[in-house]
Amino acid sequence: MDKFEYFSGTPEVGIVPRAPHAGPLLRHVYEQEHGRGGFAGKVSHTYHLYPPANWLATEARVLEPATFAPRWDGAMRPIGGTHHVLDVLRPEAAADVYRGMTRLVANASVAMNVTAPAAPMEYFFEHHSASLVYFVHQGGGTLETTFGPIEFGRGDFLIVPKGITHRFELATGPQYYWVYESFAGDPEKAEAPTTGQFITHSRSDYRFPRSLDTRNEAGRFEIVSKVDGVYTRRVHPTHPFDVVGWRGDYLPYRFAVEDVRPLVADRSHVPPSGHTIFKLPGCYLCVFTVRSVEKDAMWLPFFHRNLDYLETLAYHFGDFFSAGGMKMDGMVTLHPVGLPHGPKPPALQRFMDGHNPGVHRELAVMADFANPTHVSQAALGLSRPGYMQAWAGYTTDPRFVHRPDRLAEVRALAERLADARDELRPREDESPA
Ligand SMILES: [Fe+2]
Repeated sequence: MDKFEYFSGTPEVGIVPRAPHAGPLLRHVYEQEHGRGGFAGKVSHTYHLYPPANWLATEARVLEPATFAPRWDGAMRPIGGTHHVLDVLRPEAAADVYRGMTRLVANASVAMNVTAPAAPMEYFFEHHSASLVYFVHQGGGTLETTFGPIEFGRGDFLIVPKGITHRFELATGPQYYWVYESFAGDPEKAEAPTTGQFITHSRSDYRFPRSLDTRNEAGRFEIVSKVDGVYTRRVHPTHPFDVVGWRGDYLPYRFAVEDVRPLVADRSHVPPSGHTIFKLPGCYLCVFTVRSVEKDAMWLPFFHRNLDYLETLAYHFGDFFSAGGMKMDGMVTLHPVGLPHGPKPPALQRFMDGHNPGVHRELAVMADFANPTHVSQAALGLSRPGYMQAWAGYTTDPRFVHRPDRLAEVRALAERLADARDELRPREDESPA
């Protein structure tokens, strides 16, 4: 099919009328509106070969959640005052993206899940109560959507807004995704008035569908929808991707983690909020990526207690400074609201000894969940015992334990360093001749 594409101020692809709900084309194709905010918010229109409501009425049925996706909507409980590190999920049986979806944590507006799909999707999926943000830790393939296909690979975010029909076609090899479900709004790009719209990424980094793979096919096409914990299957006699054109700004897209261009500071520590990429109601998503280490400031996270959020950190690769030498790829840490934490003892020792590594060679996705956030039984089943021991060096290393002369030592140091200033001028051996 010929592709018609031109710039009109609103993104569009393929065959569309001059404006929504107007023009003679509407007597020949079927217009469908995807509308947020009661049709007063973001909106897109798709133009179909066949009516979108052409389901086979006698075939619609509610599926048993315990059979369809047994670990997606399980019991949740308060996490309490203990840090957790969650092991990599290793499913007992091969399941597809959604049947194997496993919830880890959730608050009233956002949930975090993990899935390791190893089977094809024999159906199409629509989430009717959440927009989805995927991070592809391993694998790749094609996200097929109403608006056209999106190729994806390792290190990509995929944003699938609420209600959009889609299906994952997986490439060969292992697949492992973290999946954030936003029940109360779509992810909004984070930016600060003082640093502008290109830090820490640009909207031009988003890759929207740009081509259609229109299917004029007859058969039995199953669509599974999810509303809260209820899964309903319906069957259509024509392929759901019978779209010849679309227009609008309510769209799925891909965003590569390599396009995160982080904020760095030589002489201060950039707080986690400086690495935020998306804001969701009740949650913010940050990316800690490869970046220069602060030169003269503290380059480790200070000891902190996050008084309003539970912190989740999903490790993609690298020697993460907070891991204390542990191999963390694919693992997730949970740091509950209010509970103090910070660098592990070996990392703090290296900082105190002045060993600046020069570059943070790491990549992790942090999602912080507003209180109260609950944890699933499945997550607790992945929790490695003894994670609280990771900070044990603070009770055993002579450098950190009680000494009778400690107060006097700090008083003397404070007096000596009271008037110390940052060194701004180049040293003599760096001055131009
Ligand atoms: Fe933290």
